[in-house]
Amino acid sequence: MREGVLFEITKDQLDTGLRGVPVGYCVTSSVDPMKGLTYVGQPIADLVNRDPIEIIYLLYYGEMGSKEQVKQFHHTLNARASLRPETVEHIEALPHTGHPMDVFSAALLIVGMFEGTDDYREDCLNAIAKLPHITAVVINSHAGWGPTPSPKPDLGYMESFVHMLKFPGEHTSQLIEVMRLFDITHFDHSGGNLSTFIGKAVSSGLEHMWGSLSAAMLALAGPLHGRANQDCLEFVKEVLDTVGEHAKPKDVEALIRKKLDNKEIVFGFGHAVLRVEDPRAAIFFDYAHKHFPHHPLIKIAALLRTEGTKVLKENPKISDPYPNIDAITGSVLTAAGFPYPEYFTVLFGLSRAVGIAIQIVYDRLEARNGKGTPIIRPKYLYTSRK
Ligand code: MLT
Repeated sequence: MREGVLFEITKDQLDTGLRGVPVGYCVTSSVDPMKGLTYVGQPIADLVNRDPIEIIYLLYYGEMGSKEQVKQFHHTLNARASLRPETVEHIEALPHTGHPMDVFSAALLIVGMFEGTDDYREDCLNAIAKLPHITAVVINSHAGWGPTPSPKPDLGYMESFVHMLKFPGEHTSQLIEVMRLFDITHFDHSGGNLSTFIGKAVSSGLEHMWGSLSAAMLALAGPLHGRANQDCLEFVKEVLDTVGEHAKPKDVEALIRKKLDNKEIVFGFGHAVLRVEDPRAAIFFDYAHKHFPHHPLIKIAALLRTEGTKVLKENPKISDPYPNIDAITGSVLTAAGFPYPEYFTVLFGLSRAVGIAIQIVYDRLEARNGKGTPIIRPKYLYTSRK
């Protein structure tokens, strides 16, 4: 390739979702087809036992903080964590008829209307701090679980979130551990995933942080992106109902072959970038194997992992026959005591909005020596429909 040329576009790459086309820099994370996700150069598998605040610090500042620095950062976030009463009131007044992601996206706009500062950095910190409260109010009011308690500053980031969730069930330490793992693994996935790209694109027109995050969450809501975690759990349940919890690998293999023959979707496999098993999925499969080996959904998800990969690998046209993160997270959340698939994508949003907000700060205030990136404006070639 010519000096300075990163990528050459050929005609057959048009109308294919900008796959692999470099469009800018990302300072928070990277996704390598063969190695998967790294946060500021560190493999995700090395970070999952840390505290979520340590990882947010890493993404926000681009380096690991000392104990004292992380503590200070947590104080800064705690001071901003509570929504104003009028913000909560307006989020609670939203209709509960649509998908909770619609409410979540609208809630972000409402926060912007009452609490926005029109300063990307301030609003980024405010968003990170307030996301657990926003998410809890959205879920509790949509589910009809009653009023949301205030955030508890003496608790950890996800501990406070779980404390605010009013679902009828035990708030166990196991569930908190799973929520922390879920949060850390979903913070960021480089700049090109649809929700992040949309959030950055909307902010490139100088829309404020809250509007940009709201748009990003609508992008996340689609079944090909964030809502895949909800759909995957429904799929695992359907497979469980069909083959039973004592199914053998051959039973699951036969079911997958039947589905493929009928041109039905086998959920939880493949990724636009990855060409190996998603390391985030491997983290959750390992966790599930260790903590819930006898749970019926976990047993089926594990069989889908091996049998699905085996069958999909037979088709040379499938570039990524491996499970992605959505193949297993819903089963783990359910096994840990949060069996509410309707809210899984909102949990994804709670986490992903953190990475998106930080990337928007880079785009708006740091890129191109502080000038910021210009308004997104790619080129389309005219073609006649005939
Ligand atoms: C994500 O985490 O955003 C998904 O894996 C999708 C993507 O990276 O494109």
